[in-house]
Amino acid sequence: MTGPADRKVVALKRRDKVGIIVIDNPPINAGSLEVRRGLLEAVRAVHSDPTLSGGILIGADKMFMAGSDIREFGAPLEDPQLPSVIAEIEESDKPFVAAIAGAALGGGYELALACDGRIATIEAVVGLPETTLGLIPGAGGTQRLPRLIGREKAIELICAGSRVNAAEAINLGMIDKVARDDLLTEALKFLSDLGSTKRRVANSQVPESDPAALRKVKTVALKSGRNRPHIREAIAAVERCGHLPAREGLAMERAEFQKLRMGKEATALRHLFFAERKALKAPELAMMARPVQIVAVVGGGTMGAGIGAAMLAAGKSVIILESTAEAVEAARDRVRSVFQRRLDRARLAADKMQQYLSRLEVTTRDDRIGEADAVIEAVYEDIGVKRDVFALLGRLAKPDAVLLTNTSYLSVAEIAAASGRPESVAGMHFFSPAEVMRLVEVIRHSNTAPDVLATALHLAKAANKIPIVSKDSFGFIGNRIYASYRRQCEYMLEEGALPQQIDNALEEFGFAMGPFAVADMSGLDVAWRMRQATAASRGPGERYIRIPDLLCEMGRFGRKTGAGYYRYKDAGSPGQVDEAVTDLIIRYSNEAGRIRRHFHTSEIVERALAAMASEAALVISEGVANSPSDIDLVLIHGYGFPKHEGGILFWAQNQPKAQLADTLDRLAETQGPHFPVGPVSALLLAGHP
Ligand code: NAI
Repeated sequence: MTGPADRKVVALKRRDKVGIIVIDNPPINAGSLEVRRGLLEAVRAVHSDPTLSGGILIGADKMFMAGSDIREFGAPLEDPQLPSVIAEIEESDKPFVAAIAGAALGGGYELALACDGRIATIEAVVGLPETTLGLIPGAGGTQRLPRLIGREKAIELICAGSRVNAAEAINLGMIDKVARDDLLTEALKFLSDLGSTKRRVANSQVPESDPAALRKVKTVALKSGRNRPHIREAIAAVERCGHLPAREGLAMERAEFQKLRMGKEATALRHLFFAERKALKAPELAMMARPVQIVAVVGGGTMGAGIGAAMLAAGKSVIILESTAEAVEAARDRVRSVFQRRLDRARLAADKMQQYLSRLEVTTRDDRIGEADAVIEAVYEDIGVKRDVFALLGRLAKPDAVLLTNTSYLSVAEIAAASGRPESVAGMHFFSPAEVMRLVEVIRHSNTAPDVLATALHLAKAANKIPIVSKDSFGFIGNRIYASYRRQCEYMLEEGALPQQIDNALEEFGFAMGPFAVADMSGLDVAWRMRQATAASRGPGERYIRIPDLLCEMGRFGRKTGAGYYRYKDAGSPGQVDEAVTDLIIRYSNEAGRIRRHFHTSEIVERALAAMASEAALVISEGVANSPSDIDLVLIHGYGFPKHEGGILFWAQNQPKAQLADTLDRLAETQGPHFPVGPVSALLLAGHP
């Protein structure tokens, strides 16, 4: 029961005739091996002590148990495992009460479900979020929760990995009582009210299911869970509850949990879990940040309005600067509609929306910039416009204000120079829609002051974003890697594949959308303009596919013009294959002297991903990104890379070495002379099994 510093992670105390079992394993009281050992010992002690009539499980420091210790999940779990602790509580003839503060999640809530009663503070949250890690609950969650709340609600909550607050939990029956006063005092009273009765959840009846409602909830869960195996298994496990003897249901659940735990998908999701934690503790964050209460956003268009909304929701006061009175109104409407959509979906309360909007000012008055602690620029992607804005910021912003640009491709150093105080400038590259997407690339140019970088990172964190540090180089991390992937897909167009075939292959792999559907959605003209601007920097002999340029020359800018790689009846309708595009591509190949050939789905996927991985390797070798796991987060959170594959470098790491080497060789042949075969292969194949 002792920790590394000889501290007890589980202590048994006495209060009259009650054993108080205190879990003390900061920061989240994770159910580690040591905690499980301690719990087992303490529960046995309560059970066998004739002077004790029951027990209370409670966490030290206002935290019950926010989950299992995920670090243990990558290897065989050591005994005692959680089901043994739970069995010990259930098999005891003395009642136990879970006194929940903070969070009882995953294994923590399963532990609470083993008890005869659950009492929680009003701030507490409970739930079974295992599916977010590619698992199903493995210590009885799928076999006990449906007995309290019915199969329909259990499927809904388990498949979504929902965290349920105490007010809702009491309505549903997930907890029995809310403690208005001291938690332990009320838990003691609750236990005493129970008397000597055991109220084992496992013995209670499952409420009757309504077949239609059950079907509906399953359909929704499968759809939003993208039909992943753990979602299907979670549903199957809940459906078994009540139809099998409890012991059998529990054994099947455990077996499935163990299988999933060691599987590829759960391993990938754990990798991302740790990657995110690492990113949120980036060394750059250790630096003292400047306090930011007022944020000015220059430009209230698509991005500026979203950024403004994100900052309001993060508790900041926001001043949006626009260029005309009409643009002011449009920007205000955009921000308002972000919150209105949330209100309509019951994701935001009306008073909260009012509170946010009361902190918003939209103006054409430049001098208001002087109020801001941080300024985020989101005007047109044009170096001249951006330089003018930063010259203005240099004159008007407070001396210690942090100046940030949302540029996608321009040089942050060049923008910074225009301000006359380059050390105060960094990039803060949001993704669209900025109020939703969690990724933010924070860009340091060679003179960005460390505390300016830290301030941008903290600001992103305050807005619940995942900030990833990038060096100031063309396309930063994400756009650069994505461009290399898209280029590879264009090569395949020229060699014989068609857009729909490539999109289907990559969507089947798990991308939310294929590259050509994405291009149509974001507008082909944006990349076209960028290619025109950077044409001079293309290396001699570099392979260049003009198909997207030809589409643009025909006015086919994508969805917004009703046609791009696909044809669209209207802005919202799905894209349709267009013979004109097929003809254009075939003609293009012929003119380029290519003999078009058939592509297998697997070849499309391997080539597209290997191109992405190669560029990622270069990004690492050039020091643009801090770590491979940062790159994985960028692709997952900004570019629709499938989560269950763990990100591009995690994917590459898990390819058989010979296969990846072979794909890289073939890739080199397709890329033209500039492709740095040696460094890429060395980086990607190093440390491969
Ligand atoms: P947008 O065209 O929707 O908005 C630009 C806004 O800036 C307009 O409302 C315009 O009135 C305003 N503006 C222009 N000059 C101004 C000035 N001197 N003072 C005040 N306001 C001014 O453009 P969008 O899409 O919001 O892009 C803005 C920036 O964000 C660009 O640098 C773009 O590259 C970047 N970005 C865009 C993404 C996207 O998906 N749209 C994603 C990530 C970054």
